[in-house]
Amino acid sequence: MDRIRLSGNGPLKGTIPVSGAKNAALPLMIASLLTEENLILENVPRLRDVRQLTDLLTDLGVDFTLRGRQAGQNSMTGQTITLNAANIVQTTASYELVSKMRASFWVFGPLLARFGKAKVSLPGGCAIGTRPVDFFIAGMEALGATIEVEAGYVIAEAKNGLTGGRYRCPRVSVGATHTLMMAATLARGTTILENSAQEPEVVDLANCLIAMGARIRGAGTETIVIEGVDRLHGTTHPVLPDRIEAGTYAMAVAMTGGDVLLEGARGDLLAEPIDVMRRAGVTIAETNRGLRVQRNGADLVAVDVDTQPFPGFPTDLQAQFMALMTRAKGTSEIRETIFENRFMHVQELTRLGASIRLDGQSAFVDGVESLTGAPVMATDLRASVSLVIAGLVAEGDTIVNRVYHLDRGFERLEEKLSACGADIERIPA
Ligand code: UD1
Repeated sequence: MDRIRLSGNGPLKGTIPVSGAKNAALPLMIASLLTEENLILENVPRLRDVRQLTDLLTDLGVDFTLRGRQAGQNSMTGQTITLNAANIVQTTASYELVSKMRASFWVFGPLLARFGKAKVSLPGGCAIGTRPVDFFIAGMEALGATIEVEAGYVIAEAKNGLTGGRYRCPRVSVGATHTLMMAATLARGTTILENSAQEPEVVDLANCLIAMGARIRGAGTETIVIEGVDRLHGTTHPVLPDRIEAGTYAMAVAMTGGDVLLEGARGDLLAEPIDVMRRAGVTIAETNRGLRVQRNGADLVAVDVDTQPFPGFPTDLQAQFMALMTRAKGTSEIRETIFENRFMHVQELTRLGASIRLDGQSAFVDGVESLTGAPVMATDLRASVSLVIAGLVAEGDTIVNRVYHLDRGFERLEEKLSACGADIERIPA
């Protein structure tokens, strides 16, 4: 398995292009199941999770075409893919394919809506808590599906098609919102989804579905209203920029000091993390090319953070922010409210010399003067990248093992960072 070696090498300086959002690309690819026409997605990141989902969709019968590089594009430009689900051969998503990535489970919604049946394995994915699927099941039942869970599979049927219904999610769930919104586009009648996720990726998916002929109001608010239509058609849709990738590099620059333009990053998708980083002593400016992040000389200051659904501070930036706070002046309390077990990076950051105490949902981080390189590993994607952020200022070599977690969600990480002066390289297995 590949590893990444890095060591502290001073401030980052330059430009980092921001890729298309993994968490938008995945549901958008799944939306292709809702139509027999072509769905063309632009700016799709080159990531392991995208390949994983391609394998699953291909297994269901979706045709997949990758457009070659066009004039003016380079290796950092996202890819354009065409998906066509005219000839679906099965509505069963197998354990082998779904267990590799939780978002695969979301095919459940479109399959059931278009074909009246779906058999989807219970998911796997990152080791960050139990991540059940009870909301998906209750929501689909509200749309008229009959559901059984048998031998590790969710088996659902809607013989005469789905019907509109009302469902209030007990707590905000991105995946349940994506799945139910997709399913409701082809249900007979009106669906009202309450306490919906308001994440920008939900809005991106809704915009694509609307371009495919869906009738959706309220995406980006807590109540989404969908009036079912008989069929959807194809469209071309660019994937929105990855706010988590942008936030991650912003924290890397905050950590090392320096001056980096995050090309294509959008401040409106990162309002809360930007506010938090500014309070920690980082200068962030919105320009017409993206976000410019600077820290020149000023010390980092400890700031407390609670993770919350959008527009709050994202759980997907919690580990990275914790890495940053290991070098801040003072003590920062970081409270994780979305997932029950998302502190695996704490032990590894401690191996690099961080001082962190866990108490229930909170981590208390006492800033230290310096970190020291060490071999580390992580069991989830955001945790892995937090170790990279710490390693960027550590004295001596840090070796990050299990790099496949990074490859799930960060495109060309070592290239993007080394172009800005980081001492980082991939060591092939
Ligand atoms: C998505 C993101 C992930 C992010 C998370 C929260 C993708 C591909 N993944 O994951 O990066 O960390 O949102 O912003 O977009 N829950 C239930 N029952 C359910 C569904 C969810 O109890 O049926 C709980 C989960 O265990 C968790 C909370 O709801 O505690 C939120 O999870 P959810 O928003 O569904 O996360 P994902 O959609 O899996």
